[in-house]
Amino acid sequence: SLLMLNDIPSLRHAMQDARRQGKRIGLVPTMGNLHQGHLALVEAARARADVVIATIFVNPLQFGRNEDLDSYPRTLDEDRAALETAGCDLVFTPTSQMLYPNGLDDQTTIRVPHVSEGLCGARRPGHFEGVATIVAMLFNLVQPDIACFGEKDYQQLTVIRKMVADLHLPIEIIGVPTVRADDGLALSSRNGYLNASQRAEAPRLYQVLHEARVALEKGQLPDEVLRGALGQLAHGSLKPDYLELRRADDLGPVTETTRNAVLLGAVHLGSARLIDNLKVTLP
Ligand code: PAJ
Repeated sequence: SLLMLNDIPSLRHAMQDARRQGKRIGLVPTMGNLHQGHLALVEAARARADVVIATIFVNPLQFGRNEDLDSYPRTLDEDRAALETAGCDLVFTPTSQMLYPNGLDDQTTIRVPHVSEGLCGARRPGHFEGVATIVAMLFNLVQPDIACFGEKDYQQLTVIRKMVADLHLPIEIIGVPTVRADDGLALSSRNGYLNASQRAEAPRLYQVLHEARVALEKGQLPDEVLRGALGQLAHGSLKPDYLELRRADDLGPVTETTRNAVLLGAVHLGSARLIDNLKVTLP
């Protein structure tokens, strides 16, 4: 059954115990309000590790001042039940006071250059610094052998892979494919901000990315495809934020010789900001 860890000493003790027993440890960091996307990460960790630990922490360091920190959904009882059913062994639920005892302004942070800068990083200053810092902190507290992250947040996954490589952290990062609703919409805690008519419009982001991928893989010119797709995105209540084609490995600019690319999009829809991406194999 699921063991709840509410403070740092209990976490350290439980992890020391697991390591002493020679167990391979798998970590799944989350902000809670768990859905099937999160549970796919737990599944991926379970397939590769002996002990699976999830963390639930709405990390204030990664939210901008005008963002949804206070309204972010908190559903701990449901999350606990879902983790138990998914076969998770441990869950760590710290408070901000525990992780940042000196306050956010006095916190040592981790900056991951270049991959953090464009796309969501350009719209959310400091966001990926907050993500890299909390993930590094969780890596140090848990000391996992592997850690699972969703491809849904493709730039986040790329930032974490680079941080792990640059700091020589002995942790294997597993990227897990995006879990979608039947109509294509990527599952996200922020989908809960949508009313019924917005929810009906939301799959358009995935549909447009998908049509653009087909055109790109047929050899249509990226500039033309992106221009057309951006026009398709601006429809009804959807307000496009960005739509970009980048190299899949480091999110650098696509060149003549790039084969592995990723198409990344973000839209505003009501009070929600939705992101999605699809990998593209260029001809
Ligand atoms: P959160 O948004 O709760 O997501 C936790 C993990 O679940 C991330 O790795 C995310 O990519 C993954 N995930 C979310 N929706 C998914 C989907 N539809 N399919 C597959 N995976 C999905 O991302 C964060 O929290 C935070 O930034 C965190 C990494 C926990 C640091 O605070």
